[in-house]
Amino acid sequence: MFTTTMTLDEINSLICNVDVKLAKGDREILYKYAQRVPKGGQIVDIGTCQGGSAFIMTLASDDSVGVVTIDPNPNPLFFTKKVELGLENRLEYLQVKSIDAPPLIDKQIDLLFVDGIHNKQGVMDDYNNFEYLLKDKAIVIFHDTELYKNTIREGVNQLIDETKVIEIETVLSEINGVTTGITVTMKL
Ligand SMILES: C[S@@+](CC[C@H](N)C(=O)[O-])C[C@H]1O[C@@H](n2cnc3c(N)ncnc32)[C@H](O)[C@@H]1O
Repeated sequence: MFTTTMTLDEINSLICNVDVKLAKGDREILYKYAQRVPKGGQIVDIGTCQGGSAFIMTLASDDSVGVVTIDPNPNPLFFTKKVELGLENRLEYLQVKSIDAPPLIDKQIDLLFVDGIHNKQGVMDDYNNFEYLLKDKAIVIFHDTELYKNTIREGVNQLIDETKVIEIETVLSEINGVTTGITVTMKL
């Protein structure tokens, strides 16, 4: 297992001018699981926005780990910051909807972060469409499972009921007075 030399505090200060849609606990989870991706592994981030989750997972993981981030709506601030951070060669952006992304990815995935479509069917579709690319015991992390407990959490619960994934942990954390919730699962 690779241990990054960059701390989460250091990463947070590097991206302090990015509008990151993640609470403190969400960042800690992404940092922890990105660090655990083995050398040469692959991370996929659904929902780029300004790049918060993509930057944290890229900077937390080994230099040999590839990261793909997907968003049909490009945000110019993401591209500026990606260059400033020197991540041109490690972080690939796909300007497509997540449903169209799997055929464009040619590596098996160690870590998938789902933060694009914010409804029950959307998160289930994201899981099911990427499932064939996930390695055995790949980690799949769902964002906003507390904020959208009647929709996103329900989708995650259904994936658990269908024995597609098991839950490893859920962390509740606040940003701007709102509890987001992040749920870590493992592909069965
Ligand atoms: C909550 S934001 C993501 C925040 C980001 N992960 C961060 O850490 O700051 C959700 C993003 O998902 C994108 N999105 C919406 N539908 C999508 C889809 N079908 N596929 C991928 N991204 C999508 C939106 O354009 C938006 O930028």
